[in-house]
Amino acid sequence: MANIEEQKRQYEYIDKCKEIIAKKKQDNGGHYTCAVVTFGCQMNARDSEKLEGILKEVGYEVIEDEKSADFVIYNTCTVRDNANQKVYGHLGILKARKNKNKNLQIALCGCMMQEPSVIEIIKTKYRFVNLVFGTHNIYKFAELLYRMLTSDSQIIDIWEDTDQIVEDLPVERKYSFKSGINIMFGCNNFCSYCIVPYVRGRERSREPKEIIREIENLVADGVVEVMLLGQNVNSYGKNLDNPMTFAQLLREIEKIEGLKRIRFMTSHPKDLSDELIDVMAHSNKICKQMHLPLQSGSDRILQDMNRHYTKEKYLSIVDKLRAAVPDIAITTDIIVGFPGETVDDVNETIDVIKKVGYDNAFTFIYSKRTGTPAAAREDQLDEAFVKEQFARVLETVSTEAAKRNGMYVGRTMEVLVEETNEHDKDYVTGRLSNNSMVHFKGDSSLIGSLVNVKLTESKGFYYYGEMI
Ligand code: SAH
Ligand code: SF4
Ligand code: F3S
Repeated sequence: MANIEEQKRQYEYIDKCKEIIAKKKQDNGGHYTCAVVTFGCQMNARDSEKLEGILKEVGYEVIEDEKSADFVIYNTCTVRDNANQKVYGHLGILKARKNKNKNLQIALCGCMMQEPSVIEIIKTKYRFVNLVFGTHNIYKFAELLYRMLTSDSQIIDIWEDTDQIVEDLPVERKYSFKSGINIMFGCNNFCSYCIVPYVRGRERSREPKEIIREIENLVADGVVEVMLLGQNVNSYGKNLDNPMTFAQLLREIEKIEGLKRIRFMTSHPKDLSDELIDVMAHSNKICKQMHLPLQSGSDRILQDMNRHYTKEKYLSIVDKLRAAVPDIAITTDIIVGFPGETVDDVNETIDVIKKVGYDNAFTFIYSKRTGTPAAAREDQLDEAFVKEQFARVLETVSTEAAKRNGMYVGRTMEVLVEETNEHDKDYVTGRLSNNSMVHFKGDSSLIGSLVNVKLTESKGFYYYGEMI
């Protein structure tokens, strides 16, 4: 339920913080800076934009470079252990900085903070961190900030779960012309290897009218492309008072005038409906791109992973998508080294990669996450064996992706211009509907517009072209 009372309360804290930051700015020669460092997925990236929205609103100067910031926030991820290790590495460096500058303030938030073992480590080894909060109370950031600014002790506020959705708090977008939009929070799938349901809580969908209103406001503010975000967008709407499907939501979003492109992620194969494929086939705005995590091609492993589909079902979805949406780019996530996985299982995964011909695949080595069912299994695999299998999968992925490089050379396609080229100011860079990158001659006045470009040359993962 959207909570108006809570929203009001947070705006009151924003006002209180404003006074404090104004004073700090004065004492600090006119500047008071903050950097938000984001780890993890697009959910976290969107959360960081919300943090930055409030920071800017209360008067901080939001900068990129954490090394010179007066306040550093790490928005953490814990999906694999290396994500956690990265944060500890960064904290080591911050500790040295804080030893020299006692005024430096540090906050930690995000998925990793939802793990009780991590909080224990922070309480003992990282006492210098000023503020720690989690994923469920991020909407209270203004209030937590106020507590941090008015206290000398370490503040830790972690909730186990929430059913709250608080709308209409400030957001600072990274791009003027495109934006991520949360359509749902949390996850109910409990894939046996995955920690996300434990750190992001139960699945909650936003009301369609709130989503539409947010997109309409964004469009009025110059946004032409949205990325609808959820851990499993295909199960959108199931828990609403008036249930609606993801496909129905897309139909409503399509009607928004001025909006030109719609993307979404992530799709879970078990909930991908024929209705969705039909909406994609008839849409002018939904991009020709589908990120469809496979995880494994082996039915036995898929069952152990609690994924609720088979290799055959997955391949049939891909066939339907390709038939209904010509030129669609299909990408995926793959895990290698799940407990008990054999060479034969990996061969099944490789078979799917070849049959689908992915445009790109993100391949991960299985990481044991404490508290998940897979972590408790005794048949964890030998590291050397997993590395060998990982290399085989990776090689198949690159061979298949390379086959698709340059396949549209000679065609004229629509490009959304995103930025001037970093290396050559006479060029701009944009993306095709299928998300491929294109460089062509043009200037910054084109940013945010859709133009027709003839693709003249392929350089592996990107194209060169000429505007028509
Ligand atoms: N909700 C999305 C994925 C979120 S996590 C979905 O279901 O598709 C992003 C990716 O990280 C997953 O698709 C999976 O491939 C990978 N991942 C999740 N847990 C992992 C683990 N314990 N070890 C390795 N990779 C993992
Ligand atoms: Fe994790 Fe599975 Fe949920 Fe994705 S659908 S977030 S992999 S539990
Ligand atoms: Fe990481 Fe949390 Fe996303 S664990 S992948 S940042 S939902």
